Amino acid sequence: MHSFVQLSRLFEEKFNKRHFPEHTPTLYDPTQYILGIGGKRVRPVCVLMGNELFADIVPDAYYVATSVELFHNFSLIHDDIMDKAPLRRGFETVHTKYGESTALLAGDVMLVQAYDSLIRMKGDYLARILNVFNRTAREVCEGQQLDMDFEKKETVSFEEYLNMITLKTSVLLAASMQLGTILGGAREGNQKLVYEFGKNLGIAFQIQDDYLDAFGDPALVGKQPGGDIIANKKTFLVIRALETAADVQKKELQRLMNENPTDKVEKVLQIFRDCKADIWANELKETYLQKALTHLDEVAVLGIRKQPLIELAEFLIKRDK
Ligand code: IPE
Ligand code: IPE
Ligand code: MG
Ligand code: MG
Ligand code: MG
Repeated sequence: MHSFVQLSRLFEEKFNKRHFPEHTPTLYDPTQYILGIGGKRVRPVCVLMGNELFADIVPDAYYVATSVELFHNFSLIHDDIMDKAPLRRGFETVHTKYGESTALLAGDVMLVQAYDSLIRMKGDYLARILNVFNRTAREVCEGQQLDMDFEKKETVSFEEYLNMITLKTSVLLAASMQLGTILGGAREGNQKLVYEFGKNLGIAFQIQDDYLDAFGDPALVGKQPGGDIIANKKTFLVIRALETAADVQKKELQRLMNENPTDKVEKVLQIFRDCKADIWANELKETYLQKALTHLDEVAVLGIRKQPLIELAEFLIKRDK
């Protein structure tokens, strides 16, 4: 059994190499660049933990872990184009550094490489793994589209927000864990419970992501401060403010979103604070953490085996980057 830190080290040892050919550096330097500027490696650790919940880590787990991390980085390159984000992990985003066209291709080829890693597996579960992987990849695209659709909508309900973040973010965490459980030989019932654990944890994870975008320390978060506010993202913070603010403040928030004045970020942050939307984040994260844990509780393995997943969950919702 390994802790989060141990598993991320084990993964990093295998992952920290060149994943792309030396030729055509104008395409492959950007892919190596994004992989080389850090990242918490949460999803590969989810694969390894899902595996280790049921059995010793099998060598194939590293191919799957590599695949989900490549898929994640592909989605980040494209996400940063869509979100017009200048910074990621404290460095320039791929499209800012290399241009949008190259960033599109760098993302595309990263996705291809993700599949390439899967087909290296020796075990006979490729079809089952691809089934989960492909369903998840489609859902991430759906979530990303909804995220952009919502930028243009005046109001979004909390349920719509939950659905959107489930699709764009939490299904990949959930699927990473489930893929690990398949490698560990888990039965379907246990796979589903672990998936539900990951899904609810993923919701709490995205809530923290949205919180940090607004209230985090930019030096740690490594993204443009207030990026979501600038892009009119309908995070739980906006939804809370539009639901609970006094009429004057509601109108002011709508005006700020429509007119994009230069002091938009600080003004919107003040409205969030006035509505205690920042405090609501803690309640929300706790709710989804507890939901996650009830599913983990039901998984039919010894409690001691679940400890790393519980630690991971606590780390993910308290993280400052
Ligand atoms: C960022 O994910 C994108 C989201 C789905 C919120 P992470 O916070 O896991 O990003 P890295 O890989 O650690 O940089
Ligand atoms: C990104 O959500 C989800 C995916 C990349 C699929 P965000 O847009 O909130 O992620 P960050 O904040 O840019 O990392
Ligand atoms: Mg983004
Ligand atoms: Mg986005
Ligand atoms: Mg974000």
